Amino acid sequence: MTNLTNCIKPIIIEGVGCYLPGRVVTNDDLAKIVDTSDEWIRTRTGIGERHLAAEDEACSDLAVLAARQALEDAGLEPSDIDLLIVATVTPDHITPSAAVLIQAKLGLCSVPSFDVNAACSGFLYALEATRSLLRDERYRHALVIGSEKLSSIVNWEDRTTCVLFGDGAGAFVLSNSASDLPVITDGLAGADGSAANLLYVPAGGSVQPASKETVEGHLHTVTMNGRELFKAAVRHMAEATEELLKRNGLTTEDIAWFVPHQANIRIVQALAQQLNVPMERFVCNIEHTGNTSAASIPIAFAQAKAEGRFQKGDRIVLVAFGAGLTWAATLVEW
Ligand code: UT7
Repeated sequence: MTNLTNCIKPIIIEGVGCYLPGRVVTNDDLAKIVDTSDEWIRTRTGIGERHLAAEDEACSDLAVLAARQALEDAGLEPSDIDLLIVATVTPDHITPSAAVLIQAKLGLCSVPSFDVNAACSGFLYALEATRSLLRDERYRHALVIGSEKLSSIVNWEDRTTCVLFGDGAGAFVLSNSASDLPVITDGLAGADGSAANLLYVPAGGSVQPASKETVEGHLHTVTMNGRELFKAAVRHMAEATEELLKRNGLTTEDIAWFVPHQANIRIVQALAQQLNVPMERFVCNIEHTGNTSAASIPIAFAQAKAEGRFQKGDRIVLVAFGAGLTWAATLVEW
């Protein structure tokens, strides 16, 4: 595992926010378009419903709404932000980045703005990058967003994938200024590209540019080996958590809350079992969101914060796993 950012000073979480689109699609709704059932989806995944963006709502639109909430939570104006990083696999366009569109829509100054693509681990990768960049005193307040319109890359005729995903966005405002607000104290990230074929979108990139054949063959949508991913998800999230705790001299007993990537409630249950931690200490919102990839952790975190779950002094572990393969873990002190 690569330690991207050891020995970096704590970074303050000044504000958090999230946005879920208004349209809620239940499992019964999906059972009308593919051969599935509420019972199968709930039992195998823990998902009951997901929010889907409107046709004219893009990744950047979801991101802007989450970001405005995070800015308000932080008590800051768009003009205070001097760095923007967006984690997404569903940017509005292949180029330019979602980040520059979000920068313009939010009315940020002409600050560095770029995307990170690390699939479901993307938000924690973006936090890692931000922690490093905030060492540079030129940057003071960073906006980090995970935003996904996964409904735009799902094959709605494939029951093995379309039931899993949802749309949404979550955002953190981070700062390197001294304060007693919640801090990110450590983080790590890793990747194994040799397993890239477990979850990918075959066409639309330089290997297979868009053509009539790629569209007809549904090659612009997610193809996935669910069983292999499941096993890899549990293993990598457990290992990442254990390494993060070990190098900080902590055990799972020191952690009040775990906020895992929301891909499947059974993955979280297996992770909890492996770490020997009761499920009550895992923040889970998958029943109402589905898997929102890079948006999943900041949405779950923002909701848990809004519900008042975190108490001063709580240590919180965020842990993610995604296509790539990628994984990452972040340690927060509330
Ligand atoms: O965010 C990171 C990326 N994604 C993941 O981490 C996903 C990880 N994997 C998973 O969550 C699970 O593997 C799935 C939820 C995708 C699948 O669950 P599973 O328990 O591994 O099911 P399976 O793929 O072994 O399929 C079992 C059966 C199959 O039928 P047969 O071959 O036993 O007759 C599937 O065709 O369930 C069938 N099936 C469905 N049936 C009803 C698959 N999808 C559905 C469906 N409704 N939606």
